[in-house]
Amino acid sequence: MVNKKDKTYELSVSILDADFTHLEDEIRKIEPYADFIQIDVMDGHFVPNISFGIPIVKAIKNITDIPLEAHLMIQKPQRYIKDFIDAGSNCIIIHYESESSIEILNIIKEIKKYGVEAGLAINPDTPIKNITNFLKNIDLLLIMSVFPGFGGQKFIKKTYERIRKIRRIIDTEDIKVKIEVDGGINLNNAHKLLKAGTDILVVGSAIYKSSDTEEAVKNFSSIEI
Ligand code: DX5
Repeated sequence: MVNKKDKTYELSVSILDADFTHLEDEIRKIEPYADFIQIDVMDGHFVPNISFGIPIVKAIKNITDIPLEAHLMIQKPQRYIKDFIDAGSNCIIIHYESESSIEILNIIKEIKKYGVEAGLAINPDTPIKNITNFLKNIDLLLIMSVFPGFGGQKFIKKTYERIRKIRRIIDTEDIKVKIEVDGGINLNNAHKLLKAGTDILVVGSAIYKSSDTEEAVKNFSSIEI
């Protein structure tokens, strides 16, 4: 068991590519090493894929104490915030691209009102300058290193510079927000992502599609920076 509190970064395991015929077993495999479980909710409109929703959050909440991040890759997220929180989400992540800026701020405030962490996700082609005004209102910024919709995609290399840019802004202005990165993360790019300033790695297929899930998650949880 890795001593999670001593780590200088955190690991969020995405279940998108888990074996859903044995979901409880899949959760047990990663429990000793995961700081969060990320539940990738897709509506087939905001992204070109449909995944799962509130029943899966409820089911996972009933079998683990690992905090759950609901990553809402959906249109009109404000309609579902309370449902995902009532289902057991510890953090709600909405996409900047899913709503107007005014609405984004209102949704963030609503999430915080329920005492739940609020995350804002940005796609690879969304300029950093578009979201700097939100940084002081959120708990984490999720920088997508793939265009959302599927697990197992290729990491977009320009992400490294985007992380460094945000890290400079956060550190210069002493803003208390974590940088989370999601998409195409593997053992060949994770160290560089952490050196660039990432606080939370989201890893899905590199864990669940590996030949040894337990070995893979253990490796991702013990990267020397
Ligand atoms: C967006 C999803 C994925 C998933 C992790 O498509 O958010 O990024 O979390 O995917 P991989 O398999 O690339 O770690």
